[in-house]
Amino acid sequence: MHSDLLTSWQQSLQDDLDQIERKNRTRILRINEGRLDFASNDYLSLNAGGRLKMLLEKQLAAWDGPIGSTGSRLLRGHHPAFERAESAFKEFVKSESAILFHSGYAANVGVLQAILSSRDTVFCDRSCHASILDGIRISGAQRHYFDHNDLNHLERVLNKRSARGTNWLITESVFSMDGDSPDLQALVELANKYGLLIYLDEAHAIGVKGESGNGLACENNLSDRIAVRVFPCGKAPGVMGAFVCGPKVLGDFIINRCRSFIFSTSQPPILAALLADVIELLPSLTGERKHLEMTSNRLRDGLVSNSLNPGKSTSNIVPLILGSEDRAMRWMQGLQKKGIDARAIRPPSVPEDSSRLRINLQAGHSTPDVDFLLKELYTIAEKETK
Ligand SMILES: Cc1ncc(COP(=O)(O)O)c(C=O)c1O
Repeated sequence: MHSDLLTSWQQSLQDDLDQIERKNRTRILRINEGRLDFASNDYLSLNAGGRLKMLLEKQLAAWDGPIGSTGSRLLRGHHPAFERAESAFKEFVKSESAILFHSGYAANVGVLQAILSSRDTVFCDRSCHASILDGIRISGAQRHYFDHNDLNHLERVLNKRSARGTNWLITESVFSMDGDSPDLQALVELANKYGLLIYLDEAHAIGVKGESGNGLACENNLSDRIAVRVFPCGKAPGVMGAFVCGPKVLGDFIINRCRSFIFSTSQPPILAALLADVIELLPSLTGERKHLEMTSNRLRDGLVSNSLNPGKSTSNIVPLILGSEDRAMRWMQGLQKKGIDARAIRPPSVPEDSSRLRINLQAGHSTPDVDFLLKELYTIAEKETK
């Protein structure tokens, strides 16, 4: 009986996998090969350039704490390194409080579940990250989704709403699959008009946007107009974890009410010490940010001049929208043959018929690297028309 149960459960998993395979959407884990990397989120090349390794080695040489944190922050998992990182970060992004989670996923799911209840209403950009969508769903809040970065649509949704409780507007600074940003000033004005609090995920802006790399809200002098800002640190900062920032009471509330913070082992404290070093480093990386802007413009211009479509990207994330899943896979494989790693992104990660290559520019990419990529893309395009 027990073994029958086990067999039928395994069969049900296999049936589901077969369904994914029939759609040609099976995902597998691959060890990265030594290709020219346009796929990782190491936007400032802090990993590729060896800077993080140097900082970590320095920390390790002087380290006399545990490596594993040995518990949740509320038990034995707290360490002065967390306080150093949080204190540096709240100064950096002009916030009253900053609480470090071990990942952006845990931060969004946990914080949204904690601050929202079924009495509240959420207005969320359709293209927000899965961790945001999951957090909203778990919270049970009434939810409305507006078209990506479309404030006119948002206003229409707001006018039709039957809003209740506290009303939230949830979006991101730079969208991971499109590389575009909302008009934050207009968003703040709209939020004001309709009485909404703003929750902003700055995962792809931290390190890259703002004069000192402190994100889009700071770049627009709007940090005090956003109730909650979340800064995952696995992209440009190159490490892991996420700071959740807001009023002082939010920090205290998270420590008392946020399940993913309370019931989980905190990250190794040496990584918090490393993050504190990175926070100190980010303001000095102006040259890297300027270079990224230059290469991103060069890539977009190069695509557009050859009738290739980079969507509405305004950042170092430059999608090449190709439409069908097969086409995106073919282009990815074509680049791979030339030693270039840029990944195909397909539904459900992006809407149907908008499969694309997601090209992530990094500070370590030279102008010839970008030109080489463009040349290979032109070659694939030309072959397609033959
Ligand atoms: C906008 C956004 N938020 C949150 C996350 C999750 O962050 P983490 O990878 O640290 O869990 C991601 C990661 O892709 C993201 O793009």
